[in-house]
Amino acid sequence: MPILTNALSSRVRLLVAGLVVGCIPIASAAEPVEWWQNAVVYEIYPRSFADSNGDGVGDLKGITQHLAYLQELGVDAIWITPFYPSPQVDFGYDIADYRAIDPQYGTLADFDRLVAEAKKRNIRVIMDMVLNHTSDRHPWFVESRSSRTNPKADWYMWHDGKPGGGPPNNWESIFGHSAWTFEPKRSQFYYHAFYTEQPDLNWRNPEVRSAMYDTMRFWMKRGVAGFRLDAITSLFEDPQLRDEPVARPGVNSYGDPILTRQYTDNLPECHDVLKELRRLTNEFPGRVLIGETYLPNIKELAKMYGAHKDELQLPMDTQFAFNPLSADVFRSKLRDAETQLNGGLPLFFFDNHDNPRSWTRFGDHKNDAAIARLLATLLMTPRCTALMYYGEEIGMENNDPKRIEDVRDPIGKIGWPREKGRDGERTPMQWDGSAHAGFTTGTPWLPVPPSAASINVKAEEGDPDSLLTWYKALIRLKKTNRALEDGTDTMLDTENTKVLSWMRQAAGAPAVVVSVNFTAQPQTVNLANDALGAGTHKLKTLLKTPGAADSLSLDQIQLGPFGVYVGEVQ
Ligand code: GLC
Repeated sequence: MPILTNALSSRVRLLVAGLVVGCIPIASAAEPVEWWQNAVVYEIYPRSFADSNGDGVGDLKGITQHLAYLQELGVDAIWITPFYPSPQVDFGYDIADYRAIDPQYGTLADFDRLVAEAKKRNIRVIMDMVLNHTSDRHPWFVESRSSRTNPKADWYMWHDGKPGGGPPNNWESIFGHSAWTFEPKRSQFYYHAFYTEQPDLNWRNPEVRSAMYDTMRFWMKRGVAGFRLDAITSLFEDPQLRDEPVARPGVNSYGDPILTRQYTDNLPECHDVLKELRRLTNEFPGRVLIGETYLPNIKELAKMYGAHKDELQLPMDTQFAFNPLSADVFRSKLRDAETQLNGGLPLFFFDNHDNPRSWTRFGDHKNDAAIARLLATLLMTPRCTALMYYGEEIGMENNDPKRIEDVRDPIGKIGWPREKGRDGERTPMQWDGSAHAGFTTGTPWLPVPPSAASINVKAEEGDPDSLLTWYKALIRLKKTNRALEDGTDTMLDTENTKVLSWMRQAAGAPAVVVSVNFTAQPQTVNLANDALGAGTHKLKTLLKTPGAADSLSLDQIQLGPFGVYVGEVQ
């Protein structure tokens, strides 16, 4: 299947064009350790994780029932995508009430219990916070659209149409077609960066800001450890409403012209809000802000941390996630993250609920398991906080709909067949080999692929060579090996186009080297002259691809196809 087929991915493709490459010596983090540094954050799509009541849709109780699994895996926090009351047009990203739980997911009491039970296992709960837009059913919008004079009239992005009719300008929704919808009661258009049912809030209105900040306080008082800020770069649009220029000829998956997003995304005012959000979360010690930050280059990503580290702690590094499987490319991405993020800690990820799963994106149908181990190593062994997505740890594949009638995600209907939507990466968690993979006793809201018969938690738990066992070992190393915890990263053997190697070093601890073979052929690397000066250094293996030879010395590290070696320098 084509890489990055969905709408957000098209957005990524458009924005990641300007790669910045840099390589200067590495900084080390000498600040107090916060829980989210070097953490593993596990994203849960609640509809698809575990269904406790047999209605075919996952729920909060289902998550609580599987906390032991998450603890055993070694995660520090779970980020749960939205479970607020919602008409579910965008499966929860269209929120109708920011202070309650959608009945299909449970109750506030279920939520409180989840937070309390998670705490007992040292797992924190991060909420998804959608600040850019609400549902069109939210009472604020119902009021706002009712007239031009009501108290909420200015809470959303209302504009007159062009003289003679038609929307104010050419702006397009990320989910296809015009970003403007006409409201007869006001004889005006409202702007929506996403679906028509997701009107954008007016972030230049101080009442909007304080209402949203109060909802965030509400959840922090309930014990949430922080927020993943949805679509945070989309908060502001050009007040002059200038047309977006055409980015390149042709049409996108929805048949629309391909426009830039210079007037609708990443406007400088975003940073004022990020500073306010940071001050707000600082009122509650230990809270973290993760950003959904699809940005064109590393310089823009660096700005998200704030010039004085006063904005986001963890903006997602989208420069890292969407690349060809190339040693050179990942070397430059790791260097960029080490040297150009304003001293910030990178937040790496490969998978989430908006993009085809990495198993499918990177797999070659021959070495898929080895490639998945390689990706896991890239995610867990550099200096970073790692963000993973349910099922990534067992090697779940994408299961895209085959017919338009089966599509649930509306963009898959709008863009069919070029855009099949995001259902494929949102299928039920595969717990065991039984019917519906042990996710539900009812009929699952999305189908489980046949591969679930062997790709599932139960089958992999007892298998020393499984991907799940590999993830557990990596996470344990990340959390317990001094050099991997917060050691500096230094790239080794930097001319090698086939194998990517680097070294982690922390004061008072043995250095750790990591070598990753990006080819389907066996490779041998010699790191003796690069690492720790000339000479032969003995190695103690910490982790290696199942069945691989033991590399005993830095001058001869042997790697099978897409093989991985992690060793301590003695
Ligand atoms: C974010 C979410 C995505 C959602 C969109 C609109 O990109 O990750 O799932 O559709 O925002 O809220």
